[in-house]
Amino acid sequence: MNRKVDIEPRLAELTSTRPELAAIVDQVVESFRECETLTDIGEARIKLLGKKGSITGIFKGLSSAPPEEKPAIGEIGNLLRSWAESALEQTERDLTAAAREASLRSRAIDVTLPGRRLPVGHRHLITQVIDEVVSIFVSLGYRVETGPEVELDYYNFEALNTPSYHPARSLQDTFYVLRHDVVHDNRDDILLRAHTSPVQVRVMESRKPPLYVLSPGRAYRKDEIDATHSPMFFQVEGFAVDRGIDMGDLKGTLEVFARKLFGEERKVRFRPHFFPFTEPSAEMDVSCFACDTSGCGLCKGVGWLEILGCGMIDPKVFEHVGYDPEEHTGFAFGMGIERIAMMKYGIEDMRILYENDARFLRQF
Ligand code: DAH
Repeated sequence: MNRKVDIEPRLAELTSTRPELAAIVDQVVESFRECETLTDIGEARIKLLGKKGSITGIFKGLSSAPPEEKPAIGEIGNLLRSWAESALEQTERDLTAAAREASLRSRAIDVTLPGRRLPVGHRHLITQVIDEVVSIFVSLGYRVETGPEVELDYYNFEALNTPSYHPARSLQDTFYVLRHDVVHDNRDDILLRAHTSPVQVRVMESRKPPLYVLSPGRAYRKDEIDATHSPMFFQVEGFAVDRGIDMGDLKGTLEVFARKLFGEERKVRFRPHFFPFTEPSAEMDVSCFACDTSGCGLCKGVGWLEILGCGMIDPKVFEHVGYDPEEHTGFAFGMGIERIAMMKYGIEDMRILYENDARFLRQF
């Protein structure tokens, strides 16, 4: 830094005829020019005003100076000392202020800059579809109930009219946690529920009709992972038990649901099917939303997409929970969430739903 240094005119005048003192003045001025840090100031102070400092030296030389020179030399020394002292102080103040400003600047916040956006997450596609299905049924007066994923054979199979000899409970399909030997009743076997239907039994067992219940959750089956299978998947179960419920209620309810989920212009159809816990049973299709029944890639030329299984609750199930089938009737339905999500959003491989690749999930 080249600091500007004013030296008093009086000092210039006094030193004009005394070159050795003029040299000291130059040296003093020079040492100020070079001061860049507070350490430099400390060093300059020693160099000028310390015991061996050049200004101190002027006073030391007084005793050996010719008497007529003494007053002038003394005046030069005094002027130089007071000038140096105040200049050192001033420079120190300047440097401190400059350092403070630099530090403030480095921490300054520009309030006019746009704020930094925090990335905001959202619900997983599967959760979104579950929530959508749930909210449709909640708007129809259903309430949500859940049941355990680790379940007893009794709820998963037996009370749902699927006794041990039934082909639908093939052992290869079910994950068992604990199996009892053949001597014991295998209704106590512990397993990972293979569907959400056991919640029907648990709810009916603990409450009395009227019941309008929806139950989303995970189910497990020993399936190899591929584009349409996963050993863990999501289902939504639903059922209604009341006086005088008939097949018309089932069809009306599920049609309203399908139109709310897939669009008001959808048609639905019911195909006879078999489930052990409903009689009669059906599968519900919705008209393909890509081609509207004319047949395309999405519906594989069929024109319709299978959405869910349903039926009138079998009196055998009511027997297990102590309901009188003469007094109450009901319907039930169950759907696979991944399947619905895949159809709705044109996803061809189910595995992508579980990989949690943010680039995929962000799209929904
Ligand atoms: N539990 C059946 C399954 O996992 C789906 C199902 C079909 C549920 C008909 C029902 C029903 O409640 O009535 O494939």
